[in-house]
Amino acid sequence: MELGCSDCGIPASDEALFCAACGGLLAFEPGAGVIGAAALRALLRERRASNEHRDRSGVWRYRELLPALDPERIVTLRENDVPLYGGRGGAAYAGLDDVAYLHLGMNPTGSFKDAGMTVALTHAAQTGARVAICASTGNTAASMAAYAARAGIQAVVLVPSTGISESKVAQTLDYGAAVLGIPGDFDAALATVRELDPRRVAIVNSVNPYRIEGQKTAAFVLLEQRAWRVPDWLVLPGGNLGNTSAFGKGFREALALGLIDRLPRIAVVQAAGAAPFARLFAAGGDMIPVKAQTTATAIKIGAPASWKKALREVRAANGTVIAVDDAAIADARAVIGRDGIGCEPASAASLAGVKALVADGVIRASDDVVLVLTGHVLKDTAYAAAYHAAPSAFANTIVHTRDRADLLARIDELATARAGA
Ligand code: F0G
Repeated sequence: MELGCSDCGIPASDEALFCAACGGLLAFEPGAGVIGAAALRALLRERRASNEHRDRSGVWRYRELLPALDPERIVTLRENDVPLYGGRGGAAYAGLDDVAYLHLGMNPTGSFKDAGMTVALTHAAQTGARVAICASTGNTAASMAAYAARAGIQAVVLVPSTGISESKVAQTLDYGAAVLGIPGDFDAALATVRELDPRRVAIVNSVNPYRIEGQKTAAFVLLEQRAWRVPDWLVLPGGNLGNTSAFGKGFREALALGLIDRLPRIAVVQAAGAAPFARLFAAGGDMIPVKAQTTATAIKIGAPASWKKALREVRAANGTVIAVDDAAIADARAVIGRDGIGCEPASAASLAGVKALVADGVIRASDDVVLVLTGHVLKDTAYAAAYHAAPSAFANTIVHTRDRADLLARIDELATARAGA
């Protein structure tokens, strides 16, 4: 695999993070003829029966398609071995006949970031890094902290001091990271990180091409579980847009390998108060950063770093980009919970987005649609509690009982209601 600039194509050194010529983001280009589709499928079937940790990881079992790293010294927590769930309630809510969720929140630290971090921290460890750093709205921080701890690397995270989920900060502290709060937002934190010298500290935000290589495997995990049947649509939330670029790359590589015969269309969903990519997609031109505002704090990002890569992928996939408001995200999140699945707020932008696209006639009821859930339901319990405490469409509240008699009467009432149903 060759590392080069994703904008101007000039080859790049492994020590840089941005193109020396134009400042663009770097990306790996797959070498020709690494492995054929039939050989890879056979390998994957074999690895399914193995108990070796790199075979059980939903990243490293595709190692032939990853940058060359010593497979004997990988930093793994068995990431990306995640399920594809059906969800009747969500389908009905969005106006679809059926829907499936690829739940990347079922990763070791509860978000899709683990798929990228296992590769980024493996690379950092193998190049002798002592410190890894990132800017984060919470999930990148927690994931980096866990993998850095496994690798014996000091993790340093920059997060907004206010306005991100306390559960994510607590989780990051648990893993032993140095957590540095800043008075600004994610965009300010990332701008600071981008100024650092990557030879001194390993920068593991999604501007790091190793992160994208790890995250692209989510496309393979999805396709493998569907016996390489391509869905009509893949729908995911967009913030800094690294994940959009990763899924697009994964699908394109699967197509080039002959594992699939067409690309799924990709729909990216942003929160209305943090939707510079949706605006750009509709209006054209360059990225105009915004001051981001949304209660889906994971995607509260106003100047997405990977917008150029993501735009190329959305166009290649004949996709679309839309924005949905915070109230729509909140209700969609509750609906996903009612299916016994659950996710964090930002993830539910996917269902809210599909509902809007079905209403607009872009997605048809009979289309084969996969929604990406990016974070676990326990990632933001304060948000869930506030939703249920308010007069929300799908609110559900605790009933405090007075005494034993009252308690038994309530149980009886519930049992009777269900028996009659
Ligand atoms: N969903 C969740 C749960 C996230 O945490 C993020 C990003 C996204 C979606 C958007 O993904 O940035 O690749 O477009 N969270 C980052 C973080 C910014 O710091 O945890 P993206």
